[in-house]
Amino acid sequence: MDKSKRKAIIAGNWKMNKTPAEAKELLTAITPLVKDADCEVIACVPFVDLQTALEVAEGTNIKIGAENCHWEESGAFTGEISAKMLTSMGVEYVVLGHSERRQYFGETDETVNKRTKAALAAGLKPIVCVGELLWERECDITEEVIARQIKLDLFDVSKEDVKKTVIAYEPVWAIGTGKTATADQAEEVCAFIRATIAKLYDQKTADAVTIQYGGSMNDANADELLSKTNVDGGLIGGASLVAEKFAAIVKAASK
Ligand code: 13P
Repeated sequence: MDKSKRKAIIAGNWKMNKTPAEAKELLTAITPLVKDADCEVIACVPFVDLQTALEVAEGTNIKIGAENCHWEESGAFTGEISAKMLTSMGVEYVVLGHSERRQYFGETDETVNKRTKAALAAGLKPIVCVGELLWERECDITEEVIARQIKLDLFDVSKEDVKKTVIAYEPVWAIGTGKTATADQAEEVCAFIRATIAKLYDQKTADAVTIQYGGSMNDANADELLSKTNVDGGLIGGASLVAEKFAAIVKAASK
């Protein structure tokens, strides 16, 4: 990838895994293995692990992210966490619109867009997830699905803000299934995402946006996926829970 144009970012998405004590153990194991990384390294962790993760990551090259945030600053939204609550702790990133939230918790492009704008307004960098279902790919509408998600999720996001936004292409059929998109499939859709952003904004803006691939990325396939021009990093689920595997992916992105 052209690192002069954009940042390579490897982010772990821990999902609903690890207690604070376990988070401390995992991050402590990851830290020395990624200290020389020539890419940005992020751990997106459950809300209850944030404080511990921030403490362990202090003074290291690991940035900490959350896995969601609400669009309102405060109020009667039981169970929700605002962007400001996260920035006030020192959290820098937030995963938004993950397919698991879309699939199991009624997340829509409208709410992803609201959360994205709120995150940016609060100074958080969103990692906005998009991706097609298997049957959508089989029906040959992957590009329509992705274009719709990109347009709706980024609606009303300024050019300056979109440069701070990371897009994660996560084909739903590849998440947690052990089925990885081929490097060519990942490149094809990541390039399409960049072209869509170029149409909405301009080429220079699109060239500055980091686009990750996610979906069964691991130490064995990271090299090939990350060798593609438009694949600027990865959003890693399962493999981010194993220090050596995560570190190997970071190493692949550092080349
Ligand atoms: P897996 O790497 O476990 O397939 O998960 C990918 C993912 O959903 C990252 O957000």
